[in-house]
Amino acid sequence: MQIPDNAPFSPEQRTAFNQILASMTPEQHVWVSGFFCGVTSSTIPGAAPVAAPVAATELTILFGTESGNCEELADKSKKIATKAGFKTKVVNMSETDSKKLSKVKNLLVIVSTWGDGDPPDAATEFYAEIMGDGAAKFSDTNFSVCALGDTSYEQFCETGKRIDVRLEELGAKRVFERQDCDLDYEEPWQAWLEGALKAFPVEKPAAPAPAAAGFATLAPGGAAYSKKNPFPAEISEKIVLNGTGSAKETLHLELNLEGSGLQYEVGDALAVIPENRDVDVQRVLKASGLSANTQFDGKTLADALKKDFDITSLTSRIAGKYNAIVNNVKLSELLAPENKKKFADWAWGRQFVDLLEEFPCKNMTVENLTGMLRKMAPRLYSIASSPKAHEGEVHLTVAAVRYDTHGKDRVGVASTYVADLVGSGDKVPVYVHSNKNFRLPADPSTDVIMIGPGTGIAPFRAFVEERHATEAPGRNWLFFGDQHYTYDFLYQLEWQEFLKEGALDRLDVAFSRDQPEKVYVQDKLRQSAAEVYEWIKGGAHIYVCGDASRMAHDVHTALIEIIAEHGGKSTEEAEAFVAEMKKAKRYQRDVY
Ligand SMILES: Cc1cc2nc3c(=O)[nH]c(=O)nc-3n(C[C@H](O)[C@H](O)[C@H](O)COP(=O)(O)OP(=O)(O)OC[C@H]3O[C@@H](n4cnc5c(N)ncnc54)[C@H](O)[C@@H]3O)c2cc1C
Ligand SMILES: Cc1cc2nc3c(=O)[nH]c(=O)nc-3n(C[C@H](O)[C@H](O)[C@H](O)COP(=O)(O)O)c2cc1C
Repeated sequence: MQIPDNAPFSPEQRTAFNQILASMTPEQHVWVSGFFCGVTSSTIPGAAPVAAPVAATELTILFGTESGNCEELADKSKKIATKAGFKTKVVNMSETDSKKLSKVKNLLVIVSTWGDGDPPDAATEFYAEIMGDGAAKFSDTNFSVCALGDTSYEQFCETGKRIDVRLEELGAKRVFERQDCDLDYEEPWQAWLEGALKAFPVEKPAAPAPAAAGFATLAPGGAAYSKKNPFPAEISEKIVLNGTGSAKETLHLELNLEGSGLQYEVGDALAVIPENRDVDVQRVLKASGLSANTQFDGKTLADALKKDFDITSLTSRIAGKYNAIVNNVKLSELLAPENKKKFADWAWGRQFVDLLEEFPCKNMTVENLTGMLRKMAPRLYSIASSPKAHEGEVHLTVAAVRYDTHGKDRVGVASTYVADLVGSGDKVPVYVHSNKNFRLPADPSTDVIMIGPGTGIAPFRAFVEERHATEAPGRNWLFFGDQHYTYDFLYQLEWQEFLKEGALDRLDVAFSRDQPEKVYVQDKLRQSAAEVYEWIKGGAHIYVCGDASRMAHDVHTALIEIIAEHGGKSTEEAEAFVAEMKKAKRYQRDVY
């Protein structure tokens, strides 16, 4: 962006302005334009008022989400677009199809990718329909796609990429290039929105520049705590939930939210912003040959690596950036497109530091190093408490990740940050990550079946506390599983108390390693198939939380079998029944 030559400034002012503009982030552009908008309309005598937006051009913002990011961006986009003069509507993929959408003139799509390149759960049906032969034609639609994902997954932003291609195949006109966003999605999304809104053909002169209008939404006044401004929450309690002898290390954490103004609902997650271990910072510094005290971004490099960067993840993208510097023959071969599996096998159990050690770089600069690293990503933890039972507090259930590979002890950054690096009285930067897709039934008399092995138990402690505190008359049935009854029965005493008080109606447990045959929660569901079906028939909602890779899939299969057998349905009919349950929000999952 440049100040035009005919702007009412001297050449010196223009040069100074242009220099500042060139150094600014998209967010700063938004702030400045919003600021001057406010100044000219309210404080400069005689200044012409800013024209009221003309809501002439219709815009639909379609989102597909699993953990709420895309929905949040869709809502923010709506506010910005509306202020910019668009007549804007937000639509969830779970509530539309290609026929309805094809009538839309201007379409923004914001969608994430889950599983292994799959659409979010609630968008599965929409995705299958739009990809299918019967999808409607989009002959009169302008569109642009913003894809959310994570570059540590092989199928990065796959759903957004496919929808982008498919819309064009169906006849829609791409007016602005797709934006693929990593975990650090705020800035790229903002730049995309700004560009996309300008690219739509405007039917009547639109109101002020879209970006300016977004100011109020993007930087709310006051000290509201958020992703950009996390709250330093004090740890008031930290307890290891497993008994001595367990192979697991699961922590119960209590954080103090008093004075933060932060509020949450059961089903939400808390985001924790961690720091790297000093030992990992030192390993990276040593392998890169850089000094800890080198200055970077107003602090020492050691401090920047500890707090600001992800220095452990190793993906083919990071290795590719590194190879652009070292140009190593062996690494180039590993990174060849036909060697994807070979690279994945090599990278398994390795971290970024192994790349530096195995393919050394002689003259690495600070810019080389920081330029290839991702920013430190917050980690989400399902909230394990009800605010009605623990006012001013938030509780988490965190499994510490530790393993030994290729001769080094390794750790998961956030889980061991809370397990090892911070103790009672220390403060941890957090913010609330709302998840509207994991909510108790609106009608308190509805029964609920909760399936949460391992740390998947966390939100169900919150659910049961909430239903107890509100005296919800609906029945509560919990399935829990872990390795051993003796060491791994997380929150055992609390469940027993809840059973005694009638807050929990039924508890089924599966301890996989207490007998020769492994037993899992899906086996427990099958053992009580007739009653599970009775509850479902009576309108019960089903919730699943925990491991996405196997457990969620196995539980899903078990549910389909139970509904087929006890509901007298074919497998296809049972699958359709479960899809309907998902659509009606009677089957919700929070899996990771
Ligand atoms: C919506 C949501 C809710 C969640 N809720 C919870 C919760 O309630 N409790 C909870 O504990 N977690 C929860 N998680 C997971 C949590 O966010 C983190 O992903 C988890 O704690 C690991 O983060 P970390 O920073 O410790 O590990 P990272 O630093 O992110 O490292 C994890 C990586 O280490 C590698 N790795 C791990 N183990 C091994 C091994 N044995 N061998 C080789 N490589 C290995 C893998 O590459 C893995 O991806 C949730 C996630 C989501 C998305
Ligand atoms: C279990 C799990 C699987 C994921 N799979 C992928 C993937 O295959 N590709 C990708 O690009 N991102 C993947 N992601 C990252 C999400 O797309 C990313 O976190 C996104 O911001 C989520 O947006 P949402 O909250 O709107 O669903 C995955 C995340 C999790 C927790």
